[in-house]
Amino acid sequence: MTHIAPGVARCPADSVQDVLRADGDTDRQPEAYKTESYRFLGDEDIDFARFTSPEFFQKEAESMWPRTWQWACREEHIAEPGDYYVYEVVGKSILITRTEEGEIKAFYNACLHRGTKLKPANSEGFTHELACPFHGWSWQLDGKLKHLPCAWDFPHVDQEKFALPQVRVGTWGGFVFINMDPNAPSLEEYLGPLPAHAKAAAMENRYIAMHVEKELPCNWKTAMEAFMESYHLVATHPQLLIANGDINTQYDIYNDHVNRLFALTGVSSPNFKGESSEQKILDSMLLGDRATLGDRLTVPDNGRARHVMAQYFKDLVREQSGLDMESRSTSEMIDTLQYFVFPNGFFFLALSFPIIYRFRPLGLDPNQSLFDLLVLPPIPASGERPLPAERVRLTADESYTTVPGMDEAIGIVFDQDTGNLRAQQEGFTTVKKRGMTLANYQEVRIRHMHQTLDKYVAMPPLD
Ligand code: FES
Ligand SMILES: [Fe+2]
Repeated sequence: MTHIAPGVARCPADSVQDVLRADGDTDRQPEAYKTESYRFLGDEDIDFARFTSPEFFQKEAESMWPRTWQWACREEHIAEPGDYYVYEVVGKSILITRTEEGEIKAFYNACLHRGTKLKPANSEGFTHELACPFHGWSWQLDGKLKHLPCAWDFPHVDQEKFALPQVRVGTWGGFVFINMDPNAPSLEEYLGPLPAHAKAAAMENRYIAMHVEKELPCNWKTAMEAFMESYHLVATHPQLLIANGDINTQYDIYNDHVNRLFALTGVSSPNFKGESSEQKILDSMLLGDRATLGDRLTVPDNGRARHVMAQYFKDLVREQSGLDMESRSTSEMIDTLQYFVFPNGFFFLALSFPIIYRFRPLGLDPNQSLFDLLVLPPIPASGERPLPAERVRLTADESYTTVPGMDEAIGIVFDQDTGNLRAQQEGFTTVKKRGMTLANYQEVRIRHMHQTLDKYVAMPPLD
């Protein structure tokens, strides 16, 4: 038996790069699609206590969460002066505002008098000033102290110095990111290759068509890791195998904070055991739209499902958004290119699945989390951006298929994904083994995330 170095072995089926070359549009392929960036990161078990222990959770809360860039809201949530949005994570509440001058600012959402939250948890809206509900101290939208009732009783308060303490803000692709660490690297440095790779996806020209936040009975990392690999398709989503690559997905590691998954659509999984054909692959997709599609869903003789599907999406995007996508490659239109930004953001590039995820602990419980799922299509051809969709909240036991406007087939997939999580979290305290054993290639993003997390939890708490 020949031994090859760990991390070198790959699924023997066609790779992502093989399929892209077979598409015959290499000249249209963005450079980022044509490259691979895997590194072997070791094969030690990942300790289960990282998902269950209050001590580890506390270290994350003190040392990691306040030091990292997290997308808190979209710019359109705070489109006009006076708009505000509250983002909460592990006991910290951050109030993001649009000032009179049109600047975006973020503050610790707490009164400097006796600490009351200025705006309620997870609220959003419009306000003329940031006024405390308790005794009425108020601040301007740019954080300057505006009014101190009975100022005569506070001669020890220098009103010039009583501005609301700020949190750093950065924007990319229409997302507003916050970071509580004044010494953190810039957002630009943190995001590494993502802005360049995602340029054509024009995340800034999108609108929020759907926003679902689901409570999950598991650690935030347990939830997140369910979306970092395609290895689970065969057992968790067998209905997807006919038209999705899984064990031939490509995984790439960039800087400490960014990695990606590159999964094929419109080819059958190497795990698929049924009878496949180009037409059957196409038939299994786009089911919800079949009635309106007619001939556009027929693969011509010697044609390929991938090409028909890509053309379908090009037509759809032009009809809905007026965007000319004709020069885009097949892969750009249909494949899953999903970028992870540590600690908790996921960005999908293809317009056929314009999805964003975010994962956070729910409250201060290592066994509970909140999963935000946004659908972010391009703004309509009129050029007017629709108002952000209302958030829909699902409890742990409620189905995604109950969300208004959710495609049923997609709702079922998310139910399948989240349906494993309670059993996994409960298994962590039962398993007769110290840690989880990860695949060298297919689960490398999970290991990458833990290695970055280790760097943060080794730091002292942020004051
Ligand atoms: S606690 Fe805010 S004004 Fe008193
Ligand atoms: Fe899944």
